[in-house]
Amino acid sequence: MALLITNIKELLQVRETNVLKVSGKDMNILPTIKNAYLLIEDDTIVDYGKMEDSKGIEADKVIDATGKLVLPTWCDSHTHIVYAGNREQEFVDRINGLSYEDIANRGGGILNSAQTLQNTSEDDLYTQSIARVKKIMQLGTGAIEIKSGYGLTTEAELKMLRVIKRIKKEFPIKVKATFLGAHALPQKYKDNKQGYLDLIINDMLPLVSKENLASYIDVFCEKGYFSIEDTEQILIAAKKYHLTPKIHVNQFNAFGGVALAVKHNALSVDHLEELNDKDIDALKGSNTMPVALPSCSYFLSIPYTPGRTIINAGLPLALATDYNPGSTPSGNMNFVLSTACIKMKLTPEEAINAATINGAYAMGIEKNYGSITKGKKANIIITKSIPSYNYLPYAFGENNIDKVIINGQSI
Ligand code: NIG
Ligand code: FE
Repeated sequence: MALLITNIKELLQVRETNVLKVSGKDMNILPTIKNAYLLIEDDTIVDYGKMEDSKGIEADKVIDATGKLVLPTWCDSHTHIVYAGNREQEFVDRINGLSYEDIANRGGGILNSAQTLQNTSEDDLYTQSIARVKKIMQLGTGAIEIKSGYGLTTEAELKMLRVIKRIKKEFPIKVKATFLGAHALPQKYKDNKQGYLDLIINDMLPLVSKENLASYIDVFCEKGYFSIEDTEQILIAAKKYHLTPKIHVNQFNAFGGVALAVKHNALSVDHLEELNDKDIDALKGSNTMPVALPSCSYFLSIPYTPGRTIINAGLPLALATDYNPGSTPSGNMNFVLSTACIKMKLTPEEAINAATINGAYAMGIEKNYGSITKGKKANIIITKSIPSYNYLPYAFGENNIDKVIINGQSI
């Protein structure tokens, strides 16, 4: 089945196959074609170009995109979209003066979500999670990374990962799974952290690998959660199972997590709200993608990741949502784009690069997703009639998406 999109006002993020990520000054360049066409066959982008060169192209279906822009769907490389229940009471508690840390210290936060998830059946967890997956697809997300980490027992972690596997099977959206057993220390192990690390290493990891439930390993490397030494134990153990690190670092404190991640060839380091010169130096010359999560900063009122410093140092940057019940109850990449421009001072070009090709790189799918490239998956957003691509981040909170096509199919 061939689908031809004609009269596209501007086709964004048009790249050759060899561009796998963009860094530094190049992030400010967004290659586009004005007055363009795009040809899709089944689930693949097969051709594009200027309208005047489209004569003679035949298709089963034609969409006229007069006045509209076309761009690749968002690649959200960091989410915890599989969870049970919500934490709106903690949201109110924070309004009334408690901090995220206070709430965690009294047994709320991640432990609260873990308790709810442990008491939720696998089917119910799937049903709750797919309602969110459907919503984000409508909002233009075509690829997503999903973490475990709200189970914190072997059984509940596997339940989460099986739900992720089921989403991967049932939905056209591209899904990559990450095992985050080291998300918080369960109450039962409060005086025996090594006991929990041993459970992850000796019990959970072998089963995750046996059932082929994850590609990546994550650790919440943070004061009060998992130290550099704890994190390194997990990363070394995970290497045996070929799980590549993508880790939570520098959300509240910078104490060497970035250098540790780089040392273990992490695919990405995520959060980075607190970032120092040593962290920047560690990232230089590495293949590790820094990932900013501005909706988390917005929701928790914590500093924004210094994206300008990262880009000005010649590094790449990706943007993701962090969709989760505690620090970011939103999976809206359009809001992330706006917030990155408004609060982190990224240009629209930088933000679009960060949310597409660099997001794809941060979850290891850059060869097939993240740009308008011949041979890549037909995952595209058709906007409403808007004046320019600057209007996307500018009109924050507005939905300017007319149509989303994932794997060649209209959503
Ligand atoms: O990325 N920081 C660690 N994990 C999540 C939030 C966890 C929660 O509060 O449920 C995050 O922000
Ligand atoms: Fe997170």
